[in-house]
Order: sequence, then structure tokens, then C-alpha cells
Amino acid sequence: MFFGAVQLGIMAACVVLFVPMAMAGWHLSRNKVLFFSGALFVSLAVCIHLIPYFPSVFPSSPTVLLQQDPTPCISLINEVNFHSNFDGFSWDFENKSRSFDCDFQKLSRIDVSDLLNGSWIVVAGDSQARLFVVSLLDLVLSLDEMESIQADLFKRHSNYHIVVEEIGMKLDFIWAPYATNLTHVITDFKRNNTYPDVLVMGSGLWHMLHFTNYSDYGVSLRFLRESLIPFLPVGSDSTRGFHLFWLGMPTLINRMLNTEEKRVKMTSEMCNLYDQELYKSKILRKDGGVFLLLDVENLSKKCGVDCSSDGMHYNGVVYEACVHVMLNALLIESHQKL
Ligand SMILES: *[C@@H]1O[C@H](CO)[C@@H](O)[C@H](O)[C@H]1NC(C)=O
Ligand SMILES: *[C@@H]1O[C@H](CO)[C@@H](O)[C@H](O)[C@H]1NC(C)=O
Ligand SMILES: *[C@@H]1O[C@H](CO)[C@@H](O)[C@H](O)[C@H]1NC(C)=O
Ligand SMILES: *[C@@H]1O[C@H](CO)[C@@H](O)[C@H](O)[C@H]1NC(C)=O
Ligand SMILES: *[C@@H]1O[C@H](CO)[C@@H](O)[C@H](O)[C@H]1NC(C)=O
Ligand SMILES: *[C@@H]1O[C@H](CO)[C@@H](O)[C@H](O)[C@H]1NC(C)=O
Repeated sequence: MFFGAVQLGIMAACVVLFVPMAMAGWHLSRNKVLFFSGALFVSLAVCIHLIPYFPSVFPSSPTVLLQQDPTPCISLINEVNFHSNFDGFSWDFENKSRSFDCDFQKLSRIDVSDLLNGSWIVVAGDSQARLFVVSLLDLVLSLDEMESIQADLFKRHSNYHIVVEEIGMKLDFIWAPYATNLTHVITDFKRNNTYPDVLVMGSGLWHMLHFTNYSDYGVSLRFLRESLIPFLPVGSDSTRGFHLFWLGMPTLINRMLNTEEKRVKMTSEMCNLYDQELYKSKILRKDGGVFLLLDVENLSKKCGVDCSSDGMHYNGVVYEACVHVMLNALLIESHQKL
């Protein structure tokens, strides 16, 4: 009985996935066929879940599937656990997501190559964003390749550009420590009328340290939001093929911060005030904006004090988890946009 349901689910998933995808095309990756195998686990879970309720009408289940609200999964996507062991830290998606049939996964190198094949990714922000780029490249490049790019990648306060030929993936890191810098990045896209497939942005730490004025931070975020109004999901598919993520600020461990100035200005009260401005600015998806939050604050807090050397930058494992959160969100979203 269960086996039957699984087979039915697989068949339904094939119908549901392959037919509309082949017709609609998929904007992130050009390698559609291979991508399907990655997308399958999301739809399979949904299908197996639904089939028992629609035993005789599974050809019509595409409608049902398309009406599935993916929000429950998206809202659980930052739920990650960290474990420390003798040689460092590891992480995992929380079991809770499984009981909601979300089935988030750590994607393998091959899955990631399929998913990102042919896409253009832009990451703009401060050193947190740079660490995010390192973790992302770690997933698609070999150790040797990683070593050969380290020096360029870590040039202080500079941009970085790489094309990963094997998968035709283009990645830009744009040094943009303030929200006003991020607004300029958006303005440049508009001027060129070219947009990346995936855009990851984040800012706040520099403003907190050098201006320590949360309301001014709020103002700069609202300008950023305004620059993004053309991309707000008002129409049916106005953000199609343009996926935006907000790389949140990490949890700061005040006593570990490496300068007196930082310890004085970057208090937990100030962090809270900056957080409030982020929510008030409504740039996050859950507040009606365009960015899906990559919740670095929560992730880094869970990884804990031992996971950071300077109270601000965390071990690679935190950014690695963030990258997988983003990739799983991309899988869900591409699926949703059929
Ligand atoms: C990427 O896509 C191209 C063309 O669609 C294909 O030839 C190539 O094999 C793909 N590479 C990977 C690693 O999937
Ligand atoms: C989560 O699941 C794994 C295996 O599926 C299990 O080993 C682990 O104990 C579970 N963790 C919690 C907190 O339930
Ligand atoms: C970012 O913005 C600040 C303040 O608005 C400005 O001084 C700085 O030159 C900008 N940096 C870059 C890289 O655009
Ligand atoms: C816009 O186009 C110019 C010229 O082709 C290029 O140098 C620049 O990097 C582009 N900017 C963006 C944000 O795409
Ligand atoms: C903080 O920023 C706001 C808005 O930009 C400005 O009106 C205010 O004067 C600033 N406060 C200080 C103490 O600089
Ligand atoms: C952080 O994670 C905890 C536990 O998973 C959750 O209850 C809380 O809502 C999260 N915080 C935010 C701001 O999402």
C-alpha cells in the first residue's frame, strides 16, 4: 500500500515537474533535466503527502500542487542545529522541518553545480558577505582551486569576480559595507538593465560602528527598499528569475570584540535597535519586502561563543549553513514558480 503510494507519487511528481517545466523553462539554470532530480525531493514529499487524499484523480494533482503554499517550509528554512565535536563544528537542518515534509537537504557538489549551472550570482556587503562567498565557492570549486583564489578573494575592501567555467557560473562579490552602497548596486543594475539570477545583500555592522545611529540606518534601508520597488511581487511573476536574499547581521559577542571602540558602540542594545530598523524598513519578505532573510543572527547564536574568534566573524560552518539555507530556498522557489 505504502509502496503503491510512493510509485504513484513518483509518477505524479514526473508529470507535475517535467511537463510544466519543459513548457515554462526555468530561469536559474539552463540544465533543466539534471536540476529536476534535485527538485524532485521537494515535490515528492508533497505528492506522497497528497496522493492518499486524491487516490483516483492524480492527473489533476498539478493544480493541487501548484496551490500548495510553500510558506511553511520557507518559514522553517533557517532552523538549523550545530554540534561541536572534537575536530570542530558540524550542522544539520532541524528535524522539525521533516515533520512538515519540507525535507531540506545539504546539497552535494553535483546538486549545487546543477542548480547554479549557467547562473549569475551577486553577493554585496561587508566581510560577512565575503565569508558567505567563500562558503559558496567551497561548494563548487575543488580544494586546489580554492587555494589559488584565496589571495584575490580576501583582498581587503575590494570586489571579486570569478567565472566557474565548468558550470558557466558567474559570481560577483561587491564590497558594499553600507546600505547606501547597496542602493548604488541596484541603481547600476537598473542602468545596465541586467540583473543577476541571485542577489544576496547585507549591511549594518559598519554603520553601527562608524555612525552608531540606528534611525539613520533605518533611513538608508528605506532608500534601498525604494530602489527595489519595481521588483516587489505585485504582479504575478514580476520577480521571476530574480531571487533576493538578505544576509542578516551575526550575533555579536561583545566581550570578544577586538577593539575598545567596538565594545563600546556595538552593544546588544544597539544590535536590537538596528534589528528593529531592519524590520521597520519592511525590506524583508515577511514584512512585505523582497528579501528572504538568511538568519545569520540566529544561526551564529546557535553555533555559540566557541564558534567565533572575534565575537563578530564566525567559523565557516555558520556561513556554510547559510549557503545551504539559500540553496534550499532556491529549490523551493523555482519549484513554486512553475
Ligand atoms: C551545465 O549546463 C551545460 C549546458 O546546459 C551542460 O553542457 C553542462 O554539462 C552542465 N554542467 C554541469 C556541471 O551540470
Ligand atoms: C534528529 O534525527 C536524527 C536522525 O534522524 C537523530 O539522530 C537525532 O537524535 C534527532 N534529533 C532530535 C533533536 O530529535
Ligand atoms: C559606500 O558608501 C559610503 C558612504 O555613503 C561611501 O563613503 C563609500 O565610498 C562607499 N563605498 C563604496 C565601495 O562604494
Ligand atoms: C554595467 O555595465 C558596465 C559596462 O558594461 C560594467 O562595467 C558594470 O560592471 C555593469 N554593472 C553592473 C552592476 O552590472
Ligand atoms: C541620526 O540620524 C538621523 C536620521 O538621519 C538624524 O536626523 C539624526 O540627527 C542623527 N543623530 C545623530 C546623533 O547624529
Ligand atoms: C531563532 O530560532 C529560534 C529557535 O529555532 C526560534 O524560535 C526564533 O523564532 C528564531 N528567531 C528569529 C528571529 O527568527
